[in-house]
Amino acid sequence: MKILTLNGSLRARSSNGAVLRSALALTDATTAAADLAALPHFHPDQDAEGATPPAPVAALRHAVADADAVLIVSPEYAHGVPGVLKNALDWLVSSADLLDKPTAVLTASPSPTGAAYAHAQLRETLRMMSAAVIPAACRDLPAIAPKTDPATGTVTDPATLQDLRTALAALTAAATPTPS
Ligand SMILES: Cc1cc2nc3c(=O)[nH]c(=O)nc-3n(C[C@H](O)[C@H](O)[C@H](O)COP(=O)(O)O)c2cc1C
Repeated sequence: MKILTLNGSLRARSSNGAVLRSALALTDATTAAADLAALPHFHPDQDAEGATPPAPVAALRHAVADADAVLIVSPEYAHGVPGVLKNALDWLVSSADLLDKPTAVLTASPSPTGAAYAHAQLRETLRMMSAAVIPAACRDLPAIAPKTDPATGTVTDPATLQDLRTALAALTAAATPTPS
């Protein structure tokens, strides 16, 4: 089981990074992180039929194609999806590597109302791209700051950890072929 992760925050002490780290610690899947900062801005001319994609784009597409499941974590910026993450998704529209790929969305925010706008927008974009978004594996985590330990960059709140365990189990179950 291989899970590819995409984090919409580039911040070194990202709370979404803490959520991601803690979630991955709850699974024995092999994991790899997509390097969103390496991607150039989406450019339709470089995405046109017959065009050779820039190397970081080719690497992202290969990593998605090679993964059994995709786990996206993200903050919300100005009630929207961070540009770095939307940029990565735009590069994946034409490649169709996300088609039917079991995918989970975890959003986290210090706000008591969570990152609801970004969460909904991400799921709508993924739905449009025909990713297999697994609702039982998706969470919007509000008021995340007191639930993490900045020193270790991990989630410390037991209820949140249990919720992440349930979410990751739903993602890996969806990505595991049923024996015939
Ligand atoms: C440019 C910018 C816009 C933001 N807009 C929102 C917002 O609309 N909603 C929200 O809940 N938090 C917003 N925040 C606060 C982020 O949720 C907070 O900085 C969070 O820690 C970022 O996630 P990270 O810790 O994973 O980097 C914004 C932060 C920045 C830098």
